[in-house]
Amino acid sequence: MSGGTRARSFKLHLKNSLALRPFAPEDVGPLMALFRDSVRKVARRDYSDEQVRAWAPDEMDIAAFGARLGRQTVLVAIEGEAIAGFAALDGQGHIDLLFVHPDHQRKGAGRLLLQGMEDAARATGLPRLSAHVSLTARPLFEAMGFAALAARQVPLRGQILTNFRMEKPLQTPGQPS
Ligand SMILES: CC(C)(COP(=O)(O)OP(=O)(O)OC[C@H]1O[C@@H](n2cnc3c(N)ncnc32)[C@H](O)[C@@H]1OP(=O)(O)O)[C@@H](O)C(=O)NCCC(=O)NCCS
Repeated sequence: MSGGTRARSFKLHLKNSLALRPFAPEDVGPLMALFRDSVRKVARRDYSDEQVRAWAPDEMDIAAFGARLGRQTVLVAIEGEAIAGFAALDGQGHIDLLFVHPDHQRKGAGRLLLQGMEDAARATGLPRLSAHVSLTARPLFEAMGFAALAARQVPLRGQILTNFRMEKPLQTPGQPS
């Protein structure tokens, strides 16, 4: 094995310090804060200040946010002690939420969370994954095999936000390809 190959393996090992764990009730506050930070600082790249404030307002109902998470399969990406991101999947295979913290961008957390959503959907025999995907997240979903079916103009608190309906068919074990 050459020195160059060893160096690349070491870099991959560092990327792999990310892990997934299930959601716990005490995560609700930190995940709501992460959601707001991610929308306002990361998605701000593709949406106006007014749009990100409509998407993640100052006043959010933590009880409603907790109830929304509590109804879904939620995975939390961690790097050491820090929460790097989270994702939520409903019972129909729709990915309701996927957010990575501004300090943990482009380190593989989004990919890991999306793979976790896919594994959870396959485990319950769901035929496909769907999501309403932001402009910011579209490259990640495309990299993970989702296709954009339609652009949507979504009215939200007085703003109009563009996103995309995206889907990925899943083959369950035993099904012909
Ligand atoms: C979209 C988001 C979840 C991506 O998370 P992430 O952890 O940075 O993504 P990853 O590091 O796992 O990226 C995996 C792959 O997706 C693609 N990708 C991710 N971000 C990209 C970008 N800004 N531009 C181009 N490709 C990108 C790349 O193929 C990347 O692989 P690479 O880094 O080896 O090139 C994150 O940017 C985010 O939280 N955005 C703001 C909130 C948001 O829009 N959420 C989605 C709601 S639907």
